Amino acid sequence: MMEWTDRHCRFFHRLLTRRALIYTEMVTTGAVLHGDRSRLIGFDPAEHPVALQLGGSDPAALARCARIGADFGYDEINLNVGCPSDRVQEGRFGACLMTEPGLVGDCVAAMKAAVAIPITVKCRIGVDDQDPEVALGTLTEAVEGAGVDALIVHARKAWLSGLSPRENRDIPPLDYDIVFRLKAAHPALPIVLNGGVTTVEGARNHLQKLDGVMMGRAAYQEPWRLLAVDAELFGEVPPFASAKAAAAALMPYIERELARGSRLHSITRHLHGLFHAVPGARAFRRHLATAAVKPGACSDVLAEALALVVDRPAELAHTAAA
Ligand SMILES: Cc1cc2nc3c(=O)[nH]c(=O)nc-3n(C[C@H](O)[C@H](O)[C@H](O)COP(=O)(O)O)c2cc1C
Repeated sequence: MMEWTDRHCRFFHRLLTRRALIYTEMVTTGAVLHGDRSRLIGFDPAEHPVALQLGGSDPAALARCARIGADFGYDEINLNVGCPSDRVQEGRFGACLMTEPGLVGDCVAAMKAAVAIPITVKCRIGVDDQDPEVALGTLTEAVEGAGVDALIVHARKAWLSGLSPRENRDIPPLDYDIVFRLKAAHPALPIVLNGGVTTVEGARNHLQKLDGVMMGRAAYQEPWRLLAVDAELFGEVPPFASAKAAAAALMPYIERELARGSRLHSITRHLHGLFHAVPGARAFRRHLATAAVKPGACSDVLAEALALVVDRPAELAHTAAA
């Protein structure tokens, strides 16, 4: 998620779930081709499985970027057909590609031809006054025909003018039923639901009908929820018994990153929502917000913040939140 997530966030989330697939924020083809590549798309091997999301609409450029992503070691390349920002529209990609399903199919075909890893698309159900049934159906046929490996559907329209990107994540109503119907019509195509899923239990319900669920804001703002993913969705033991233990395990990474010149706050900012219904959560957040931003702040700040919260097993925190 642009502005929110980065490689530090992904490394931290990977401590909370071994199994969830993690996506990068959107990186444009222009940035991948001409920017500081290792800063933009470099990642730690511990982040696997991780998908690189690309923004673009030129099949040849996307194919080159897919190859670069595959060479970096990404497990999947995803094409963004859902971002409604003005900047993205000017570049003729993101959500406005919902009106050019043939071009999206060409993009997928070019990327499929370039790499052996899965190519996926993340889309909306339509834009502006499109009929979602037609728009989503046509896009799905185009990408399925091009060999797409999965389709992630943010189950609401985007309004390309009149709503800000933020409003476009809340105001257009969610329509999960259209995604269920899409799955029924395309049983062989893996379909993943996104939008408004705020709990792991909610995700599990959708998984009865669909192949996957993508959580965005809830995963970022309440990362403690991720600690339930491996147990509840994959029947596996969680990587750590508590959120506090997971945060403590971040310490060696922090020391490594500080030695490379990263600032403490750029890492610990992703931990602010880690504790829920745990005594000391507010003091933890406050300490990080004030001490981690100071010049020269080191990993001791996280140790001090963690000393302020009670160590409660993940299941108890989870029950308290239900
Ligand atoms: C700050 C922010 C940045 C986002 N950046 C991206 C992005 O780079 N690529 C993308 O596909 N979606 C992006 N999204 C949209 C989310 O991935 C997701 O589709 C949307 O928030 C709805 O899902 P949710 O209700 O689970 O959050 C962003 C959302 C937010 C809040």
